[in-house]
Amino acid sequence: MVNLLACAGILTGCKPLPPSKPEAQFTPEEARGAQVFHAYCARCHYPTTTRGLKGPGLQALTKVKAMPSGAPPTDERITQTIRHGHGMMQAVPVGDEDLQYLLAYLHTL
Ligand code: HEC
Repeated sequence: MVNLLACAGILTGCKPLPPSKPEAQFTPEEARGAQVFHAYCARCHYPTTTRGLKGPGLQALTKVKAMPSGAPPTDERITQTIRHGHGMMQAVPVGDEDLQYLLAYLHTL
């Protein structure tokens, strides 16, 4: 059990993920982005763990080499995923401004 807990990131090969930025240090943009995330994404994605909900957990999304699909976690690919959907995920109608905040937030994870 202890091992299981210490090794929660099976998909990451048990390498510790870089830490998320503490909420207290968020810029105004990142804080807005967190609200956007809660409005549009949180019902399907956990932000601070890699554990899946309806979709994969997004911890350290922009800091890992590849997203679950294998695509690099660039702003471009993430935007494409949100705008056009990806596999089992449908497109999510996030406005242009909110999308910029959301990307800023995703970089804190
Ligand atoms: C209704 C549920 C749902 C919502 C809402 C949702 N997602 Fe997803 N998301 C999924 C599922 C399911 C997958 C897995 C898709 C697959 O690989 O088939 C996924 C996959 C992803 C991926 C990984 C893509 C890849 O290339 O591996 C990212 C990044 C992502 N979502 C981000 C977001 C963001 C950001 C939002 C909010 C704007 C969001 N999702 C909203 C269900 C959702």
